[in-house]
Amino acid sequence: MTHSVAVIGGDGIGPEVVAEALKVVAASGVDLDTTHYDLGGARYLRDGTILPDEVLDELRDFDAILLGAVGTPEVPPGVIERGLLLKMRFALDQYVNLRPFLHEPAGVDLVVVRENTEGAYAGEGGFLRKGTPHEVATQGSVNTRMGVERCVRFAFDLASGRPARHLTLVHKTNVLTFAGDLWQRTFDEVGVDHPEVATAYDHVDAACIHLVADPGRYDVIVTDNLFGDILTDLAGAVSGGIGVAASANLNPDRTAPSMFEPVHGSAPDIAGTATANPVAAILSAAMMLDFLGEADAAARIRTACTKVADASRSVSTSDIGDRVAELV
Ligand code: IPM
Ligand code: MN
Repeated sequence: MTHSVAVIGGDGIGPEVVAEALKVVAASGVDLDTTHYDLGGARYLRDGTILPDEVLDELRDFDAILLGAVGTPEVPPGVIERGLLLKMRFALDQYVNLRPFLHEPAGVDLVVVRENTEGAYAGEGGFLRKGTPHEVATQGSVNTRMGVERCVRFAFDLASGRPARHLTLVHKTNVLTFAGDLWQRTFDEVGVDHPEVATAYDHVDAACIHLVADPGRYDVIVTDNLFGDILTDLAGAVSGGIGVAASANLNPDRTAPSMFEPVHGSAPDIAGTATANPVAAILSAAMMLDFLGEADAAARIRTACTKVADASRSVSTSDIGDRVAELV
């Protein structure tokens, strides 16, 4: 069976790592029909295009989207992030950002379920009296019962299928008493349907300590968009580095394609030096294969990646891709 995949290499090291991910998928025997889209900061600088609605509509017809990284220092912050990446996450209703972390030496085996369409990312707010001494800027966190509940349900279902069957809600309920209350109540109510899953709650600041000092306490974590963004960089740092951290922007209802991308950014400082670690992109492609029903190939890719993990510091981007490809 052939899967149609839209590929957005993007900026900086994005195209370099995506090329290795596609190389490895081809070696795994899974057949992809790929269409490459030239989108990102470089394209924007060339002709002002970010993500036209016609292109967004085209993307809806693919089985999945594989993305490298987008963003260049020459473009002001937010333009590409909001106009391309968040636009896709929101429009394609990719409401779960799934980020697994596995690093045996540090005792890490956890998955973060990050809400991916709401919270502080929703774009609520604005300026008053901009540029004056009395300027006001607000940026609200939007939390809907529907949005929180579908994310929490996904997390309980995921935890239920894992050996440890443990789910921790991470929030800041002691200060964010409105949003936190909605999250906690939803978590408690959905938990009634999942008596098999043991639950816990940690404030996000404490969770940062635990992720460093005692990551073994976590199995599945569910949290809001902004806390999830920050926590997953930290989780990456304590589990082999951001060069191996993979993620999936999932539309679990499959009403639109899901998008798979490494947690890392475009790293313009090392672009073109062949030093980027493609493992995060390769593991993101493995998550894509899992979602497309190719669990066997995905498992082989993950195993191959663990075998090259030790060597990955001293060899080039394409050498790492070659080694993983040989082993799948
Ligand atoms: C991530 C990134 C994005 C986010 C940025 C680039 C908008 O940091 O995927 O974690 O904040 O979600
Ligand atoms: Mn991030």
